[in-house]
Amino acid sequence: MTNFFPITINDVDALMPIETACHSHPWSEKTFKSCIGGRYFGSFIKNNDDLVGFYIGEHVVGEVTLMDICVSPDKQGNGFGKVMLNHFIDEAKRIEATKIWLEVRAKNISAQMMYINSGFVETDRRVGYYPSASGFGYEDAIIMCLSL
Ligand SMILES: CC(C)(COP(=O)(O)OP(=O)(O)OC[C@H]1O[C@@H](n2cnc3c(N)ncnc32)[C@H](O)[C@@H]1OP(=O)(O)O)[C@@H](O)C(=O)NCCC(=O)NCCS
Repeated sequence: MTNFFPITINDVDALMPIETACHSHPWSEKTFKSCIGGRYFGSFIKNNDDLVGFYIGEHVVGEVTLMDICVSPDKQGNGFGKVMLNHFIDEAKRIEATKIWLEVRAKNISAQMMYINSGFVETDRRVGYYPSASGFGYEDAIIMCLSL
């Protein structure tokens, strides 16, 4: 059984290992903590008491940005990402946002597929925006948007 819980500052220690395992350039604990409360909102999920993943969104003047979404690597490919993205979209609708924005690495095809399948469209590209995951050179950021 999958359950959602709102993220508080007290959850960061438990979520940091997922953040670190999921990204080549993960948030620091300090950055993670700065994305909790105020204009930020987020949830983590547990499946049968097992911590699976989390998302963080930011709400600014009627628009929402997906700041981060992660599923623990050993639990990826089981539909949890989609369940969390749908929860995030429902939350954005609930707070009456009109658009959702996100940025994704050009080489992150699985995340892009997930977003495209949920109706996001590419609106822009920032050339060489991210240091590459391999440590050599840079990688484009793709900007995607979903109108609600
Ligand atoms: C992106 C991420 C959250 C997806 O979570 P997940 O639980 O693995 O995804 P799901 O099993 O729910 O799959 C959702 C959709 O993603 C796409 N997808 C997932 N894995 C894929 C793969 N290996 N290849 C292509 N598409 C894939 C598919 O469209 C899939 O939908 P479908 O099964 O109906 O075809 C997860 O891979 C992750 O945490 N990645 C590392 C962190 C990250 O890159 N976050 C995004 C930052 S922008």
